[in-house]
Amino acid sequence: MTAAETPALETRGLVRVLGDGEMRTEILRGVDLTIRRGEFCAIVGPSGSGKSTLMYLLGALDRPTGGTVAVDGEDTAAMDETLLASVRNRKIGFIFQFHYLMPEFTAEENVMMPVLKRGSPVREARERARGLLDELGLGDKLHRVPSRLSGGEQQRVAIARALANEPLVVLGDEPTGNLDTKNADRVFAVFERLAKEKRQTIVVVTHDPHMAARTARVVRIVDGRIVDDGPTREVLERMG
Ligand SMILES: Nc1ncnc2c1ncn2[C@@H]1O[C@H](COP(=O)(O)OP(=O)(O)OP(=O)(O)O)[C@@H](O)[C@H]1O
Ligand SMILES: [Mg+2]
Repeated sequence: MTAAETPALETRGLVRVLGDGEMRTEILRGVDLTIRRGEFCAIVGPSGSGKSTLMYLLGALDRPTGGTVAVDGEDTAAMDETLLASVRNRKIGFIFQFHYLMPEFTAEENVMMPVLKRGSPVREARERARGLLDELGLGDKLHRVPSRLSGGEQQRVAIARALANEPLVVLGDEPTGNLDTKNADRVFAVFERLAKEKRQTIVVVTHDPHMAARTARVVRIVDGRIVDDGPTREVLERMG
C-alpha cells in the first residue's frame, strides 16, 4: 500500500437537502469522510441522523446537493444516471434490510446470477456461490427456492449475492438487523475476512454495539454531521 493509493470512498463537504420551502431539511450538513481500501467501518448514530442518506450517496444511488462523493476516485456528483449505474455495478455491493431474491431460482442460482452476468464461467460462479453460502451457514440449503427459506435465511442469501462479484465496496444498511446473534456473527466474520484477505472495503450501519465492536473503525453521526470517528474501541468508549 502506498500513501497515494486512491481511497475507496471519499466525501468532501457533503450536503444533502431534501424537500423545499417549509419542508426543506438539511439531512447531511458537511460530511468529510475518507475510507481506504480494506477498511471495515461501522456508521452509528441516532435514528434520523442521516446514516441511510449517507449510504445512498456513498453507493451512487443518490447525488449530493453540495460537496463531492468519489467512489474509487470517480466523482459521482457530475454523473448522469447511466454513469452512476455503471459505478454501482462495477464497484458496489449493496445489502439492504429488504431484499429482492428471484423467487423462481434456488439460493445457489440467486447468488450465481450476478457472477454469470459479469461473464464468468458457470463453474466459477457455482464455486463462488457455494463458498459464500456455506460460510453463511446455508451449505445444506443451496437448492431451495426463497419461499422455502426463512426470512433470516433469505437475508443471508441476499448478502451472499451482494458479495458474489467481490465488489470493491460493500455497503450494508443494518445488514444483520433481522438475524440472530449466531448468524449475525457469521456475516461479520465474512466481512472481516473480505476486508483482510481481499482488501474489500466494508461499511455497515448498525444500531447494535456488539456488532459495531467487531469493526475496526466507527464513524458516529448526529444530526447530519460526523461527531466522532476513530478506532472502534476508542469511539465506543467515548460513547459510554
Ligand atoms: N424524502 C424526504 N424528505 C424530507 N426528509 C426526509 C426524506 N427522507 C428522509 N428524510 C429525513 O432525513 C433524515 C435522515 O434520514 P435517514 O434515513 O438518513 O436517517 P437514519 O440515520 O438512517 O435513521 P434510522 O436509524 O432510523 O434508519 C430524517 O430526519 C428523515 O426524516
Ligand atoms: Mg436508516
